[in-house]
Amino acid sequence: MTREHWGSRLGFILAAAGSAVGLGNVWKFPYLVGQNGGAAFVVTYLVLVLTIGATGMLAEMAIGRAAQKNPVGAFAVLKGGLWPVTGYLGVICGFLILGFYSVIGGWTIAYTVKMVDGTLTAPGLDFAAIFSGFVADPLEPLVYHAVFMALTVGVVLKGVSAGIERWNKILMPTLLVLLVVLIGRAVTLDGAMAGVEFYLKPDFSKINADVVLAALSQAFFSLSIGMGAMITYGSYLTRDQNLPRSTVMVIGLDTGVAILAGLIVMPAVFAFGVTPGAGPGLTFITLPGVFQQMPGGTVFGAGFFLLLLFAALTSSVSLLEVPVAYLIDELKVSRRTAVLVLGGIAFLIGIPSSLSLGIWADFKVFGLPFLDLLDFITSKLIMPVGGLLMCLFAGWVVWPVMRREATNDGSVPFALLPVWNWLLKVVAPAAIAWILIQGLIG
Ligand code: PHE
Repeated sequence: MTREHWGSRLGFILAAAGSAVGLGNVWKFPYLVGQNGGAAFVVTYLVLVLTIGATGMLAEMAIGRAAQKNPVGAFAVLKGGLWPVTGYLGVICGFLILGFYSVIGGWTIAYTVKMVDGTLTAPGLDFAAIFSGFVADPLEPLVYHAVFMALTVGVVLKGVSAGIERWNKILMPTLLVLLVVLIGRAVTLDGAMAGVEFYLKPDFSKINADVVLAALSQAFFSLSIGMGAMITYGSYLTRDQNLPRSTVMVIGLDTGVAILAGLIVMPAVFAFGVTPGAGPGLTFITLPGVFQQMPGGTVFGAGFFLLLLFAALTSSVSLLEVPVAYLIDELKVSRRTAVLVLGGIAFLIGIPSSLSLGIWADFKVFGLPFLDLLDFITSKLIMPVGGLLMCLFAGWVVWPVMRREATNDGSVPFALLPVWNWLLKVVAPAAIAWILIQGLIG
C-alpha cells in the first residue's frame, strides 16, 4: 500500500498548525500566564518557542519526512538501536494526552450548548460557580467527553488528507478573525488595563525555575512537539515542501493565537476581579462574562466555543493519529481497528481525569489528582525528554539526513543551517536538561 500524503503544500501547513493550535493556546496558555507571574512568563515562553521550539519542530518534520514512518518506525529506519524507544515514548504520550484533552474538549461542546440554552446568558450569573459546578458533576462532563472522543475518532477514521486536512482550511482563519473581534471588547472593559499591563509589562523578578519549566513544557505542548506528532504529520509529506518555511508559519500561527487568546482572557480577569492564578477554569470563567458585555454576545459566545471545539478537534486528531500510525505501520492493523481500539482506551483514561475534578478530587497519585498527574507526566516529563532526545538524534546521529531535508537536497537555501545544527547538538539539549533539573529537583 502506498502511504497517504497531504493534498497540497498549504494542506500540510494547515494540518500542522491545526495540530498546534488548540486548547493549549486558548485554555492552557492564559491560565499558565495567570499562575506564573504574567508578562514575565509570556517573555520566557516566547524566548523558548523561538529557540528550542523552532529547533525541535524542524527536526521532527525532517525526521518524519525522511523516514515516511510513524515515530517508532522513523527512529528504526533512520538508525535503529535503542532510538525507537524515543518513538515509543511519544506514542504513549499522545495517547495519555488524548485521554484528558478530550475531557477539556468536551467542555467546549458543553459551553457551546450552554451559551445557546441560556445557562450562560442570564444577567447576574456567577461564572466561577457555574464552571466548578459543571466540572464537578459526575456525569455531565463525561457525556461531553464521549461526544468529543467520538468526533475525534470519526475524523481519524477518514484518514489524513480527507479527514484532517479539509477542516483546517476553513476553520483556522475564522477563529483568528473572531479572536481579534473579542480582543476589541475585552480591552475596552472597565478595569481591563490592569490586565493588559499584567500581560504585557514584565516583572522579571517573577522568573524562577518553576516558571521556566512551566514555559518550556507549554512550548512543547502548544507546538505539538516532543512526542512525535510532527514526525507523524511530516511522514505524510512529499519532497517539495520547504520545511524551514513551514516551521516558521506553524510557529507563527500557534504563537499568534496564544498571544491573542491571552489578550482576551487577561483583561477580562482583571475587569471582572477574577484571581489570575485561578487555574484551568480561567478561560471558561472569564469569556462568558466578555460575551455578556457585548451586543450579540450569545451568538459570538456560541460561535467562539464552537470554533474552539474545532481547533481542539484538529489537535486531538493529531494526538490520536500518532498511536494509530504506529499500529498501522508496525503491527499491520487496519486503520479502522486501530482508531476504534485506541479511541476507546483513551476514552477510558479520560474518565478518571474528569472525575478528579469532582468526586475523585481526593484520590491522589504522587500528591496529584489524576488529571494533573497525566498533565505532569506528559508535558513536564515525556515531551521535554522526548524533545531532548530528538534534538540529539537529529544533530549528532542523522545530521546529513537533516541537512538534506532542511534544504530539499540542497536545492533550497537555508541560511540558518549552521545555527540550527548548533542548536540541535548543544544548545537545545543542554537548555532542556538544565531547565528540567532545576524545575523538578532544584
Ligand atoms: N498543541 C495542541 C494544543 O495546543 C496539543 C497537542 C499536543 C497536540 C501534542 C498534539 C500533540 O492544544
